Amino acid sequence: MLTTSLPGGTWTLGGLTVTRFGYGAMQLAGPGVMGPPADRDGALAVLRTAVELGITHIDTSAAYGPTVTNQLIREALHPYPDSLHIVTKVGANRDPQGGWPPARDPQSLRRSVHENLDTLGLDVLDLVNLRLGDAAGPLPGSLAEAFETLADLQRQGLIRHLGVSNATPEQVAEAQAIAPIVCVQNMYNLAHRHDDELIDALAGQGVAYVPFFPLGGFSPLQSSVLSTVAARLEAAPMSVALAWLLRRSPNILLIPGTSSAAHLRENIAGAALSLSNDDLAELDTIGR
Ligand SMILES: NC(=O)c1ccc[n+]([C@@H]2O[C@H](COP(=O)([O-])OP(=O)(O)OC[C@H]3O[C@@H](n4cnc5c(N)ncnc54)[C@H](OP(=O)(O)O)[C@@H]3O)[C@@H](O)[C@H]2O)c1
Repeated sequence: MLTTSLPGGTWTLGGLTVTRFGYGAMQLAGPGVMGPPADRDGALAVLRTAVELGITHIDTSAAYGPTVTNQLIREALHPYPDSLHIVTKVGANRDPQGGWPPARDPQSLRRSVHENLDTLGLDVLDLVNLRLGDAAGPLPGSLAEAFETLADLQRQGLIRHLGVSNATPEQVAEAQAIAPIVCVQNMYNLAHRHDDELIDALAGQGVAYVPFFPLGGFSPLQSSVLSTVAARLEAAPMSVALAWLLRRSPNILLIPGTSSAAHLRENIAGAALSLSNDDLAELDTIGR
């Protein structure tokens, strides 16, 4: 059994136990998530630091770079410790301008699963999320053909567990009617709380919710209430934002991104911050 001193403890995704404090690797690619990082050794060091500090959940995608972050993960960490679980996502390609055109037809999804296996150096992917919608957020529409393709790859033994990302509650339910899912990865943070009901419903089902952009993504979270609470606690606003997510619901797993080992350490320490009921009530006013 995995024990951890990381804040939040552990969660079980299907049969895979992971630390609730994970790491999102997207920021390791070059500007606009295209091309190699300016500081390649620094990027490798962040990944090694994450594992040294006990993180057992890394989020990535062959679309990052494209393939840059997967190759960095492989170089830094392969052969992977048994405890480490790498979560990837399929459903979007990259175009030369750095856009994220959808690629959810069966052929593209199969190609992308194999690309993730090859670039990560794995025979089986622990968890694959089907990314839906577009860069502006979830969009309605059936995921049946795409999710059935992934369920088929799961039956073939190439994928252990499935999830969905950037999904509406209707799409989550549609996926669950096709095959079990172990997580939903959507945009959510202190200031962006469209998924409050979904999080509570998934908690009741034992399904993880993994917020992307937990710190605001490309535009850091800014709120006078957050700054006030952080100043009172003598903590960084980002620490408060992460500690709040861990408190928000036990099924929330963190994958904050950073290209800096120092920020990673700061975020781990910060997420352990203790928030009082008064702090929580004040923070609750931000995204409502
Ligand atoms: N499913 C999807 O569609 C989707 C979409 C986007 C992202 N994701 C996943 O979600 C993960 C998290 O998202 P994200 O990385 O884009 O956004 P994020 O975690 O909200 O924020 C990352 C940003 O915060 C900065 N940061 C982190 N810690 C900091 C600290 N202690 N002090 C100051 N700045 C700090 C980082 O800069 P530094 O590098 O300078 O630390 C980076 O610019 C990604 O890595 C990716 O795996 C998924």
